[in-house]
Amino acid sequence: EKKEHVALYQMHQEAQKIYSYYLNTKLGLEAKIYLLNRHFTDELIKEFQIGYAPIDPVLHTAFTKLEYSEIDMVKSGLVIESNNHFDRFNDRIMFPLFNQQGQVVGFSGRIYKPTQTDSKYMNSPESDIFIKGQTLYHYHQCREAVKKAGFVYLLEGFMDVIAMYKAGIENTVAIMGTALTKGHIQALRRLTNHIYLCLDGDHAGQVAMSKAARELEEAGFKVQIIILPDGHDPDEIYEEHGQSGLEEALRKTMKPIEFLMDFEYQLVDSLNYDDRKNYLEKMCFEITQIKDDIDRDYYMHVLSQKSGFSYDIIQQRVAGMKPRAE
Ligand code: GTP
Ligand code: MN
Ligand code: MN
Ligand code: MN
Ligand code: MN
Repeated sequence: EKKEHVALYQMHQEAQKIYSYYLNTKLGLEAKIYLLNRHFTDELIKEFQIGYAPIDPVLHTAFTKLEYSEIDMVKSGLVIESNNHFDRFNDRIMFPLFNQQGQVVGFSGRIYKPTQTDSKYMNSPESDIFIKGQTLYHYHQCREAVKKAGFVYLLEGFMDVIAMYKAGIENTVAIMGTALTKGHIQALRRLTNHIYLCLDGDHAGQVAMSKAARELEEAGFKVQIIILPDGHDPDEIYEEHGQSGLEEALRKTMKPIEFLMDFEYQLVDSLNYDDRKNYLEKMCFEITQIKDDIDRDYYMHVLSQKSGFSYDIIQQRVAGMKPRAE
């Protein structure tokens, strides 16, 4: 923790307290009701330190009183400079984002009224203390649960982390979007080598999973895939089907190779020979990555059945390909 960053950490800690305060005032009432409708309890709000940023520039006012310089305020990302200075976050539900040591380093703010038409979430910009590609939501809180379970659920959104928490599942982190970075992979490495990848069940989530599964396996992780039904995310499953429904959905795991074979097959135009051949080549390459002889042979048979190409040609192809360098 560098000395010149002390002010930035302090301002974020201060901001978190101020936002928490406003959630329980009249100004935050509608935001609070939104949270209650999404089955947030006071206990959950406290656990995740959720707050509310009112319309007025409350941070700029408070920071001025506390004698922070406007240069530092702008550096923190919490205050914006134009003609005047004002708060970045207005009229949003605020979720603090923590660094790996558990310090508040940024925020994500959600709209909560139908009349709000700008982007659903607004995040802090990167700063000297906030590096998005290294930030995993719930990272510093999940350690014990991950140790106990022996794996971590890698989720898309922080709302999904909170939904899992409602269901008593705490070995979770979220990448807050669909882009898995090198920094995320490094952080995960320090946590566990076993990952249950469970991004949203919609198309975007599945595209991201096909990419992330390859990258994580390449990085040496043991990976399982969970595809949630109806294009849902964990939070939607919990809302629709409760704790037992979520638990049931999470039990259906598959190996990355099984997922990739199905997922890529959906993208194939079965009437187009080149498309099917391209699929075959891609899947042969994925099979080459499998280390266990029995598993490899088994999935060559599966691929043959699925693609209509012969087992012999698949075996020949796989034998001639080299696995990715480790
Ligand atoms: P809810 O709609 O509140 O349930 O959130 P969600 O987690 O289901 O959101 P979604 O699946 O659309 O997106 C997953 C993650 O991507 C979120 O947790 C955000 O971190 C990020 N994200 C989604 N929408 C936006 C956006 O409009 N702007 C930015 N910056 N990030 C977003
Ligand atoms: Mn999504
Ligand atoms: Mn459903
Ligand atoms: Mn989602
Ligand atoms: Mn959601």
